[in-house]
Amino acid sequence: MFTPKRAIFTASMLLAITASASLAETPNLGKPIDEAAIANWDISILPDGTGLPKGSGTPAKGAVIYAEKCSACHGDSGKGGAAAALVSDKKIEGISAAQKTIKNFIGDSTTIFDFIRRAMPFQAPRSLGDDEVYALTAYILAENKLIGPSDEMNAQTLPKVKMPNHDNFIIRFPDRI
Ligand code: HEC
Repeated sequence: MFTPKRAIFTASMLLAITASASLAETPNLGKPIDEAAIANWDISILPDGTGLPKGSGTPAKGAVIYAEKCSACHGDSGKGGAAAALVSDKKIEGISAAQKTIKNFIGDSTTIFDFIRRAMPFQAPRSLGDDEVYALTAYILAENKLIGPSDEMNAQTLPKVKMPNHDNFIIRFPDRI
């Protein structure tokens, strides 16, 4: 006998069959990827520092790299140029994105490392070594007076640097990070 319940059951069975059929019939695009290639892009750093690589850097070393690879866009000493200032005491006074700076907005120091490593320099992302990224992160944090001028940043010290806006973020799924 036809009942709505049976119809739903049949429909879901059909869906299940179609789903597995379409899984089998792949368009044969792409090629298998090996572990090394995955590892090369498996570079996300969690807020607590999980995933940070070995290596270290100081603000002094970062200053040298910054002058060579970053200042053309971000200005001398991070004061801003064609691209945003990386060193600023600006307070957020409205809702415009232009108000946001590393110091007044980014909630976790580890995000600075993650972002630089994956995205900078803008024209050559992924070209920096981990020591260089630690040094640049240390330089930006020191110029923003969030660490001392000779504090070394590494996988242990960086996650301990508390960003000024850290407590103003609401973590939607705290158990997932
Ligand atoms: C060719 C220009 C250019 C160069 C060189 C460059 N950047 Fe950037 N940078 C940008 C642009 C454009 C953005 C904004 C990107 C976006 O929003 O996706 C940015 C964003 C950033 C941010 C995020 C800023 C924020 O407030 O969220 C950081 C940190 C940063 N760059 C660091 C660096 C460092 C360190 C270097 C040197 C290794 C560097 N950049 C070199 C153009 C550049």
